[in-house]
Amino acid sequence: MRGKNTTKVEHLGNVPLFAELTRKELDQLAKLCDEAQVAEGKVLVKQGSVGFECFVIEQGQVKVERDGVVLATLGPGAYFGELALLDKQPRSATVTALTDLLVVVLGPREFASALDTMPGLARKIMTVLARRLRDMDARFVGH
Ligand code: CMP
Repeated sequence: MRGKNTTKVEHLGNVPLFAELTRKELDQLAKLCDEAQVAEGKVLVKQGSVGFECFVIEQGQVKVERDGVVLATLGPGAYFGELALLDKQPRSATVTALTDLLVVVLGPREFASALDTMPGLARKIMTVLARRLRDMDARFVGH
């Protein structure tokens, strides 16, 4: 019989963020994270609050808002909630489910452990952070 973990590993393997992980790393990651279904309209992350989790979207769409201004909509393969775990500051934005979601959830210790033990994952996360910073710079200056 195929276990819950097998399905989770398959799901994780389909997420581009995790695409370069080895089978062993995927198994390890599956043990560190939970998969959760979230109903449309639910607020997963609240601006200003203390952050405990980082989320990766497997299915569905979310809206990222700061002070009521929409910064981004994110879909499958994207992640959010990493900033508060990286710099231990309050949540920078509110993230709301625009549709029903299937998400991967990593707690703070698990997130740190994944970064420490999976250099490929850490590099990908830095690449996305770099892209977001460039996008913000371009938006700020207008080109
Ligand atoms: P965190 O600050 O923990 O909680 C809110 C999350 O929204 C944040 O982490 C990022 O993951 C995400 N976020 C904030 N600003 C942006 C942005 N400009 N584009 C995409 N996602 C963002």
